[in-house]
Amino acid sequence: MKAARRRAPLLLLSLAPAGACGLLWAAAGEEAVRLKDAPGRDLTTGRCILCHSLEYIPSNAPAMNRAAWQKSIQKMKERFGAPITDEEAKQILDYLDGSYSGKS
Ligand code: HEC
Repeated sequence: MKAARRRAPLLLLSLAPAGACGLLWAAAGEEAVRLKDAPGRDLTTGRCILCHSLEYIPSNAPAMNRAAWQKSIQKMKERFGAPITDEEAKQILDYLDGSYSGKS
């Protein structure tokens, strides 16, 4: 049974580099993404970069419309606890709908 016991540390070792890569990748992505220039861009950047790359916005844009963005912002607030007031959510929604609905 010696062989079986040796497997656990090996598994941990092989998972660790994958986690580190994910972090590096996320950091690099945030630097690369600059949202389109329009009213609300700075607010959106500030609120949405807190937890993940801004790349989530352009990469989801082709599938989005106003209602879908509204749901998405709501989900970020309710499920993940994003610190966004109702007034800010309205401005972010206007911005995302204007710049990232059905276009990339
Ligand atoms: C409090 C943390 C937090 C904030 C702030 C936040 N998000 Fe998210 N977001 C998440 C998590 C967690 C996920 C899902 C897990 C993942 O893939 O990272 C996610 C996923 C997404 C996705 C992918 C689709 C989905 O619904 O899973 C989009 C699009 C998105 N966020 C948009 C936004 C936008 C736009 C903002 C700013 C208004 C924002 N997020 C702010 C936590 C956050």
